[in-house]
Amino acid sequence: MTVATPQPVALVTGAASGIGQALAVAYAERGVRVVGGYFAGDPHDPEVTLDLVAAVAGECVMLPLDVTDSASVDALAAAAIGHFGRLDYAVANAGLLRASPLLEMTDERWHELLNVDLTGVMRTFRAAARHMADGGALVAISSIAGGVYGWQDHAHYAAAKAGVPGLCRSLAVELAPRGIRCNAVIPGLIETPQSLDAKNSLGPEGLAKAARSIPLGRVGRADEVAALVSFLTSPQASYLTGQSIIIDGGLTVRWPD
Ligand code: NAI
Repeated sequence: MTVATPQPVALVTGAASGIGQALAVAYAERGVRVVGGYFAGDPHDPEVTLDLVAAVAGECVMLPLDVTDSASVDALAAAAIGHFGRLDYAVANAGLLRASPLLEMTDERWHELLNVDLTGVMRTFRAAARHMADGGALVAISSIAGGVYGWQDHAHYAAAKAGVPGLCRSLAVELAPRGIRCNAVIPGLIETPQSLDAKNSLGPEGLAKAARSIPLGRVGRADEVAALVSFLTSPQASYLTGQSIIIDGGLTVRWPD
């Protein structure tokens, strides 16, 4: 008699837009059930993610989430158990991007951003690891801003994103006895609501200009990052842990002009 392997369950933060939404769909396409968190303070409609997942016959629940609130993050991880009875993967994808020159950097602005982009990752992994099955996988989204490059007017974002690989390396070692792997993904320029925000990021014109410096000749798509995250959490990546993988169309390896 063969016993059917249960479909894995993934927790994804920031799942109502951009990379998180694309990841919910990528997971649904390979039969991974998703518990997605959406931030009610942003205009993204969680129904869109639910519709996209339903269109590929996947299973997904979307719940309100604020990664700056430990109780909210804990509740999302507990909901994975409540809805699906298990939790196998957690992806700390939620992120906040704000421009602020150093001389205008208040303590409040600094803490607001670090609270989402770095402490939020720790809260997500802490909550998930309490419930995760042995042999699970964690992935956090860093950035080439901080992960590789400096970015003027974004010291807080770069500091948070530079911290993510260190956090992941440490958890890779700490959680290895449970067979839980932990990796970081370092995206380059990906077209999403975050990068299309001309006030805090490059905006459409800045992205089009930057594309000319990217060896592959274009900015990336959310589904391309999602495919990498999905792979990193899959059994095909069973010996891969503690790594930070850049996905940027060759931007950071090109010889400067
Ligand atoms: P996005 O803005 O569409 O996604 C970020 C998500 O995080 C949004 O759904 C937002 O509502 C959510 N979020 C913000 N604050 C939250 C909070 N307090 N609690 C819970 N959720 C919260 O943009 P994108 O690009 O999909 O971002 C995903 C991740 O990728 C972020 O961590 C971002 O910093 C990172 N990234 C993006 C790059 C790009 O070029 N788009 C490049 C490098 C990294």
